[in-house]
Amino acid sequence: MKCCIVTLGCQMNQSDSERIRSVIEGMGYVLTAVEEEADLIGVVACSVRQKAIDKVYSKIRKWNRWKNDRPLVTFVSGCILPADEEKFLKLFDLVFRMNELPELPTALQQCGVATEFSTRHLLDELEREDERTDFWQVEPTYGSDFEAFVPIQNGCDKFCSYCAVPYTRGREVSRASADILAEVEKLVGNGVKSITLLGQNVNSYGLDKKGEELSFAGLLNQVGELGNKSGKDFWVYFTSPHPRDMTRDVIETIAQYGCLAKQIHLPVQSGDEEMLRHMNRNHGIDAYKKIIADIRELLPTATLFTDIIVGFSGETDEQLENSARLMEEVGFNMAYIAKYSPRPGARSAEWPDDITPQQKSERLAKLSAILKRTSRAHNERMVGKTYRVLVERADKRMEGALVSRTEGRLLVRILQASEGLIGTFQDVRITSAAELSLTGELAGA
Ligand code: 5AD
Ligand code: SF4
Repeated sequence: MKCCIVTLGCQMNQSDSERIRSVIEGMGYVLTAVEEEADLIGVVACSVRQKAIDKVYSKIRKWNRWKNDRPLVTFVSGCILPADEEKFLKLFDLVFRMNELPELPTALQQCGVATEFSTRHLLDELEREDERTDFWQVEPTYGSDFEAFVPIQNGCDKFCSYCAVPYTRGREVSRASADILAEVEKLVGNGVKSITLLGQNVNSYGLDKKGEELSFAGLLNQVGELGNKSGKDFWVYFTSPHPRDMTRDVIETIAQYGCLAKQIHLPVQSGDEEMLRHMNRNHGIDAYKKIIADIRELLPTATLFTDIIVGFSGETDEQLENSARLMEEVGFNMAYIAKYSPRPGARSAEWPDDITPQQKSERLAKLSAILKRTSRAHNERMVGKTYRVLVERADKRMEGALVSRTEGRLLVRILQASEGLIGTFQDVRITSAAELSLTGELAGA
């Protein structure tokens, strides 16, 4: 029996998908990447862009046509808007939320899916814990031997006006720190080199269990201690934090421990005060700049990434200019710039989407040009120096080259290196710089 899982969207979905995979493999299925040969097929959906939602509809229509010719069971999970959920219930055999994952084997049996193995064991094991079964206790089947995602939190309480996440994933729930630390320790013991702590709003970690649970800085501190004790080399990242909860002690903790990577992804969304208010971000530009100043002071080598939305409801040319100015000032190494698109259910969906597609494209191009300029200037200063990188994969575009990343997550193409180095740390001398990437050679070579 074969199962195919199509994963759309962000790293959180990839992480969820790793846990879904474990449950399904536990039922005796073999995973396939070929939809056509699957008996069980599902999608981990994303609702951030309409395009991703459209893709789910086109997939399920296709799969439902296949059902005329052969038996097939379909499921959907991930980030689903309430409005889509109602429609998905009619289109898919099974719609489940991640917190229902432990019940997936039973639900599939009820769909008439025969399984080779006992499907109860997973549930029994979970129920023995004598607490509410939770999907984080399902051990994931990691997609890589040297890079791993570790969810620390699910959902979001921030209600940014453009965002659908509080409606697709619900309120913020922090995972028990003991479980997070146990997972990190196990990964480190297995030689994993890059670990990313995941959540919609990682730095409000623990606030839902105040007094009972660590703060985010406290959690990072424990991870740092674990790193020191392990005697192993690895980098720990987290994504994404919210400026509102980005306290100085978080940055101080990162400065204190070698394993906490000097790379910060801090979404700003807009460089304009009024837009930030309109977006319900609950912080001002000065507060954002103060955090950046703290990062520059305490983590002088850190790279900075951000997310920005252009063409939000009512955004004027001057307001876009303020985003441009902020980008110039900070000099981000990377910015994920998105054209605003109304998400049904989110607050702003009721407001006019009044910036034309052409204006949005122009604004995106404008910010993207600034990003290219500032990131190139940064990268040029790296030429001639040697950096530690983690080798990720062979370069698809260049024969004999490898793709790697610095601690700051900058992409370095290593020329003439053996694929045997994939998954290892290497020292690389940077020989040339481009807009969003670098080229180098093995320092020993
Ligand atoms: N339109 C455009 N971009 C969005 N994002 C979230 N919602 C929207 C939307 N409605 C972007 C934000 C967020 C990232 C994950 O996606 O920049 O940080
Ligand atoms: Fe969405 Fe804002 Fe929560 Fe991020 S912080 S998931 S953008 S509501």
